[in-house]
Amino acid sequence: PAIWKDEDKDLMRRAAVKAGLIGDSEEESERLFLVLEPEAAAIFCQEIDKNTLTIGTHLMIVDCGGGTVDITVHKVVQVRDGLKDVALDEIVTGTGGAFGSTYVDDSFLDYLADKLTEKAIEQFQEKEPLDYLKMIEEWERTKCAFDPEKSGDIIYFPLGVKFYNLLKNNYPQVLKKLADEQNGDDTDIYISCETMEGIFKPTLDGIVQKVKEQFQELDNQSCDVMFLVGGFSTSPVLRKRMEQEFGNKVQNIVMPPRPGLAILGGAASFGVNPSAIRARCSRLTYGFSYTPEFEEGVDPESKRIPAKYLENSEDLCLDRFGYLVKKGKRVPTDAEITQIFVPVLSNQKGMDLEFFSTPRTDVRYTDDPSVTKLGELRVEMPFTQGGLNRKVEVTFYFGQTEIKVHAKDMTSGEDFKTAIRFNSGY
Ligand SMILES: Nc1ncnc2c1ncn2[C@@H]1O[C@H](COP(=O)(O)OP(=O)(O)OP(=O)(O)O)[C@@H](O)[C@H]1O
Ligand SMILES: [Mg+2]
Repeated sequence: PAIWKDEDKDLMRRAAVKAGLIGDSEEESERLFLVLEPEAAAIFCQEIDKNTLTIGTHLMIVDCGGGTVDITVHKVVQVRDGLKDVALDEIVTGTGGAFGSTYVDDSFLDYLADKLTEKAIEQFQEKEPLDYLKMIEEWERTKCAFDPEKSGDIIYFPLGVKFYNLLKNNYPQVLKKLADEQNGDDTDIYISCETMEGIFKPTLDGIVQKVKEQFQELDNQSCDVMFLVGGFSTSPVLRKRMEQEFGNKVQNIVMPPRPGLAILGGAASFGVNPSAIRARCSRLTYGFSYTPEFEEGVDPESKRIPAKYLENSEDLCLDRFGYLVKKGKRVPTDAEITQIFVPVLSNQKGMDLEFFSTPRTDVRYTDDPSVTKLGELRVEMPFTQGGLNRKVEVTFYFGQTEIKVHAKDMTSGEDFKTAIRFNSGY
C-alpha cells in the first residue's frame, strides 16, 4: 500500500522471514522484492491496453480499495533495454486517502444505529455474533450489487430471525416505529434508493476530492486516460459518479475486467521486469545528518559545537539536515547519489551515519518535529593515520522500492551496507 510507512514494510519483511519465504541473512533479503501497489496497478493497466497507450500517453490510475484510494499518474515512455520497449515514468507525486469501501460500511452502520438504536445493535452483536456477521455479509452483498439504475426504488434489507426476536423481546418500540414507517412491515428495513446513495456519498465525495487534487497537481499537463481499479471500482455508483465528474477531463475512463486483480497481475509483471518503472516522484524528502560550519545569526546557540572542542578553526553546527532527495522530485530508478563524509576528530575510529525523511521540503535540523529517522549505519574507521583528511564515501542507490546505502571507509577500503526504504507514504 502506498501509505505504508517504513515500519510497516519492515513488519512485512519480518513476516516473510517468519513464514519461511526467505532466510534472515543480508543476501536472502535481496530475494524479497517489495512492489508499490500503485505501480503494480499502473503496469497492469499499461499491459492490458498496450495498443491504445502509445508513447507519451499520460495515464491516471485510481485504485479504489477497501481501506484507501490511491491515485498516481504515469507517462508511457520508450526504452531501449530491458525485456520491453516501453516503461512508465511517474510524472507527479501520487496522492490518496482513507476513502475505501469500508467507509461506506461505516455509514451504513450509522444509518442502522439511527433506525434500530445503537444499544440494540450492540446487544445483537454480543448475543448473536454469528448472525451479526451474517447481517454484515448481507450488507456486503447489498452494497456490491447496488446500482441506482437497476436496484429499484426500495431495497429490502432483511433483519433476520434472531435479530427480529431480540428486538421483539427487548426493544418492541423499535419494531413498532419500523412498522409505522413501512406500512406495517417490520421484518425488513426499507432502504430507499436516495438513502443508499446518501450512504455512499461521503466516501465518493472523498474520492472525487482526491482525484481533483491530483488533477491540480498535474497543473497544465494533460491526462489522457483514467483507469479505475481495485475492488470498490466495480461499484456502479462509483463508476457513474466518476464519469459525471471526470468524463470531460480525460479522453477515456477505463474499467478493466476483473479490476480486483490489477495489483496482483501488475506485481507479477514487475517482478519479471522491474525496469517497467523508470522513474518515480518522491513522496517525502530524504536526507542525512551532518555537522557543517555554524552560521552566526542563523543557527541557535544550542546547536553550536565550539571550535575549541574540535581540531577545526571554525565552530560547527549539530544535527543539520543534508538533502538527498526533495519531496516531489522525479527520481530515475537507476539514480545513484554519492556523498563524501569526513570525520570531525582526527583520532575518530568510526562514523555513525543517520538517515531521515520528512514530508516538508525545507527543514534545517534533523530534530525538527516533522522528521522521522529511517535508519543508521556505523562505518568503522580503524586506521587513524590521515586524521581529518580521511574520507567515507557513501552511495545511495535508488534502484527499486527501497533505497540502498553503501558506505566505504576510503582508508581501509572496507564496505558497509544498509537498506532504507523508499517510502511512498504521504
Ligand atoms: N461492487 C462493489 N461496491 C462497493 N464495494 C465493493 C464492490 N466490490 C468490492 N467492493 C469492496 O472493495 C473492497 C476490496 O477491494 P480491494 O481488494 O481492492 O481492497 P484492498 O486492496 O484489500 O484494500 P486497500 O487497497 O485499501 O488496502 C472491499 O471493501 C469490498 O467491499
Ligand atoms: Mg488495494
